[in-house]
Amino acid sequence: MQPFNVYPLYDIEPVKAQGSYLWDKNGDRYLDLYGGHAVISVGHTHPYYVEALTRQLSQIGFYSNSVQIPIQKELGQKLGELSGYPDYSLFLVNSGAEANENALKLASFYNGRKKVIAFKNSFHGRTAGAVAVTDNPAIAAPINDRSHVTFIPFNDIEALKAEMSEEICAVIVEGIQGVGGIQVTSTEFLQEARRLCDQFGSVLILDSVQCGYGRTGKFFSHQFAGIDPDVITTAKGMGNGFPIGGVLISPKFQAKFGMLGTTFGGNHLACAAAVAVLDIMKNESLIANAEKQGAYLMEQLKGINGIKELRGRGLMIGIEFEQPVDKIRDSLLFEHKIFCGYAGKHTLRLLPSLAIGQAESDQFLEALEQVLAVSV
Ligand SMILES: Cc1ncc(COP(=O)(O)O)c(C=O)c1O
Repeated sequence: MQPFNVYPLYDIEPVKAQGSYLWDKNGDRYLDLYGGHAVISVGHTHPYYVEALTRQLSQIGFYSNSVQIPIQKELGQKLGELSGYPDYSLFLVNSGAEANENALKLASFYNGRKKVIAFKNSFHGRTAGAVAVTDNPAIAAPINDRSHVTFIPFNDIEALKAEMSEEICAVIVEGIQGVGGIQVTSTEFLQEARRLCDQFGSVLILDSVQCGYGRTGKFFSHQFAGIDPDVITTAKGMGNGFPIGGVLISPKFQAKFGMLGTTFGGNHLACAAAVAVLDIMKNESLIANAEKQGAYLMEQLKGINGIKELRGRGLMIGIEFEQPVDKIRDSLLFEHKIFCGYAGKHTLRLLPSLAIGQAESDQFLEALEQVLAVSV
């Protein structure tokens, strides 16, 4: 059986990884400024993380959500504390799409409504509910009904006001659009969205799958706006590569047996990974490091010729160029051995580990300068 061929692949085979570096099968070393789509939060194969997972696996790796699993409570307690949401409840899933799927379902159970407001260039995942609120018809199949969703321009307060009504079930928004090109949702917009959702009894969902988990210098990027969403979704960096997602649910929602459910969500191994990530983030002050290294990168990038626009917060950085980004990305990868991401045709996307140091930042800055000197 061959893999179903849906991914265009680089001809690179990583066989080892440590911190912010990967090694391929030829022994070439790569700087990882992308973390496999923002997943590597505390660095590859961190010894504390490896030890925690190994220990958990040798005790018990999995049992379903029909028995006591104390490590789920430990995770909830530590996540509540570090994120600043100790009074929210936690529903554990396996991915970002699944987190958003459950968030939307929860919203609809809550107010009995169906209509959702989402945004131009949004990305929320590929499962039915999540893809319906994603602004990319090319990845929605005919079976994925989108008729209940209205897409409005990003950061457009007047457009939101015009669409809000007592029919709106939920507003779902990324604190910073990732796939959409590192576009920061404005403080004014988030505050107005909070106010309008309260006024109309709609549920405000903040998709923090990419922009969350300390990446921006706060645990969640919407915390810069000083708002509390009704539901927050998370995944990616939560398990540093072990699949886990979470739905953080405000106290106004009442749980009911059978309302939500999953076989794998919240299993022992996934929780051990997520607890280890939070411990490392706390012990090594990685949120502060994300803020510091992000500020350093931004400041240095401002001095490089050939960049059209810089966007983002902390270690979620978009670098837009006049020219298409593919040649720049390929030169960085194949000549300078640096993994970066991209968004759209013109934007380079940096989503490194939160533990990145100045030496790695400098390595990237030097390489980018060299690439731009040739390609501009
Ligand atoms: C903001 C956002 N939401 C949801 C998802 C979907 O996450 P997953 O691929 O884990 O289903 C992504 C993935 O890139 C994302 O960036």
